[in-house]
Amino acid sequence: MKSTQVLKEEHGGIKIMLGILRTACDRLESGQAVPGTDLERILEFLKVFVDRCHHAKEEDFLFPALERTGIPREGGPIGVMLSEHVKGREFIRGMSDTAEGCSKGDRAAVEKFTFYARGYTELLLEHIEKEDEILYPMADSHLDDLVDRKLMEEFERVEEERVGHGKHEEFHRLMEELQKSYRG
Ligand SMILES: [Fe+2]
Ligand SMILES: [Fe+2]
Repeated sequence: MKSTQVLKEEHGGIKIMLGILRTACDRLESGQAVPGTDLERILEFLKVFVDRCHHAKEEDFLFPALERTGIPREGGPIGVMLSEHVKGREFIRGMSDTAEGCSKGDRAAVEKFTFYARGYTELLLEHIEKEDEILYPMADSHLDDLVDRKLMEEFERVEEERVGHGKHEEFHRLMEELQKSYRG
């Protein structure tokens, strides 16, 4: 399997979680209660699975490998992807700061939380499309097999060392569980 295939599969999981987040926002906006624990678990997924795992694989390994083939960081897709990761973190911070009030039914908190969550969802869906359609095909044509195999090893290390053994599978279970109660 190619390293970009691993990342694409993770995009699939991320899109499922964004759908769950969207349903949670719809419910909050229509005045329904959403358990605080669910919001916490969604945020944990966004912070750990999306940012600490997926974005780290891109920022620390895939993008530098592409730069070594001569693709510049500034003024091209790599720079754009990096700045979108930064923007994503700001939205996550906004959601984290307002999630507690939200689950207590505080309307101002609901308004802020859903603003950040919808901004994040829109940003990330477009970001994923750009990577799937532009950046990953670029990687597939620029990286040779040896570099790609090395990337796969580094991805495994990110999962073991930064996310923790078995955590990836745990996130998949969490996703399936939340999917049952947050169908759009
Ligand atoms: Fe990315
Ligand atoms: Fe990505």
